[in-house]
Amino acid sequence: MASADVIPRHRTAIRRFQYSKPISLAVSHRLIREDCTVLDYGCGRGEDVSLLQKNGMKAEGWDPHFRPNVPLRPADVVNLGYVLNVIENPSERMETLRKAYALALRALVVAVRVDQSLDKGIPFQDGLITSRGAFQKIYSQSEFRHFVGETLGVRPHVAGLGVTYAFKEKAEEERYVADTAFRRTVNYQKDAVEEFAADTLGAALIAHVREMGRLPLDEEFDGFAALEENFGSRARIARLVWKTVHPETLDEVQRQRRDELLVALAMIRLQGAKAMLFKMLPLDVQADIKSLWTSYQQSLKESDGFLFGMGNPALVKAAIDGVSFGKKLPEDFYFHLSQEPLLPPLLRLVVFAARQIVGDIECDLIKVSNDGRKVSFLRYPDFDRVPHPELKYSVKVYLPKAAHSFRDYGDSTNPPLLHRKEAFLDELHPDYQRCTELTACEEALGLLSRTDIGFRNGWQAALREKDIAESGYELIAVERDSD
Ligand SMILES: C[S@@+](CC[C@H](N)C(=O)[O-])C[C@H]1O[C@@H](n2cnc3c(N)ncnc32)[C@H](O)[C@@H]1O
Repeated sequence: MASADVIPRHRTAIRRFQYSKPISLAVSHRLIREDCTVLDYGCGRGEDVSLLQKNGMKAEGWDPHFRPNVPLRPADVVNLGYVLNVIENPSERMETLRKAYALALRALVVAVRVDQSLDKGIPFQDGLITSRGAFQKIYSQSEFRHFVGETLGVRPHVAGLGVTYAFKEKAEEERYVADTAFRRTVNYQKDAVEEFAADTLGAALIAHVREMGRLPLDEEFDGFAALEENFGSRARIARLVWKTVHPETLDEVQRQRRDELLVALAMIRLQGAKAMLFKMLPLDVQADIKSLWTSYQQSLKESDGFLFGMGNPALVKAAIDGVSFGKKLPEDFYFHLSQEPLLPPLLRLVVFAARQIVGDIECDLIKVSNDGRKVSFLRYPDFDRVPHPELKYSVKVYLPKAAHSFRDYGDSTNPPLLHRKEAFLDELHPDYQRCTELTACEEALGLLSRTDIGFRNGWQAALREKDIAESGYELIAVERDSD
């Protein structure tokens, strides 16, 4: 530890009772799995280490303050979680990053707090002193990515805001790249449909639909609640049934599969400069490529065409025009996260490219500008509960510059809010009907014609002006005081 430090670094150690964000991401991306060893470098009190051990992983933790005597041994995955921020000396930051990477056999996970999560504090050197009296270096996402890349001489992969992976083992990197591309596209629907058809209630519902030619009503089938718990919204269940009961013609299946593979191959290209070796692809994907193209080279050439399409505003606009869900405004197209798998290939790529810059952001809606240059991830925590959900934060990515910005409305007294929520719901969603009716009422009352209703204050003023109050999905006339 640098003796020049004026602030004790261990003050920053965090108490938590679940995995930290980087560990939880690395587990979900299968970098950390049962058969591997983990070293938590700068583990603080060692909460991640205990949780990993409890879950059967071979994990050890070292920390200069809390566990200085634990021997430092190389491990398959090394985690350097929220350590770099607390180091005041820039060259010691680099040295620490290099030391941690040197101990990694397969991959290093690095996490720092990035701009939006920082406490307000007193500026100090290239960071600040927080209200808890601890030093924090302020990173932006792109500065952080560059820092890791330059210091280690590898291409870091963004797993989330403030979390990157630096791979040591090529095979592990290729597995991760292929996994992220194929998990998002090819496997998604196939696996889900198979899983649904294998479920007892799912199979019962499919039999019902085959017999009746439509989805049964609630009173005709009492398994909906249990199915929703396991498979998600009613709309998703309807789609899964539809896929099983009305399998498309072979041509359509092949066309979809081609699109999915082209998107996945383009996603791989977006994650690294070179195409992946054919033998590194999952076996079922290899078989599909062989049956759909004359050669792997041919499929790569075609997927490159998709990549070029992303930079073509007219093609992006045409793709948006062809979508039949979501909300289209003059500049932007909005859709719900659950609608992402239904997007045309080009738009799926645009969103994927944005995730390469900021990682997976917790969000409910995604906004894509009509020219495909900007993508925003929008979080409405009450989206499922209220008719006019309010925006908590947005992360906007500007693709040509690989830049992003964050807006936090958490403390705002006048946050943006949503109208016409049904645009983001499938027609079979239980809320669809009441949202549509509410919108019709709001329109009839002239509530939606004001220009300022996109924010809480404007919306409340519009309601007051018409002597109306909201109660859930109902509008109530308010008696005006007669004085
Ligand atoms: C904010 S805590 C993070 C602890 C843990 N990784 C977590 O995510 O909860 C920062 C930790 O970094 C440790 N630390 C400070 N300088 C370090 C260095 N040069 N190498 C490794 N760890 C260091 C501190 O002792 C402190 O426990």
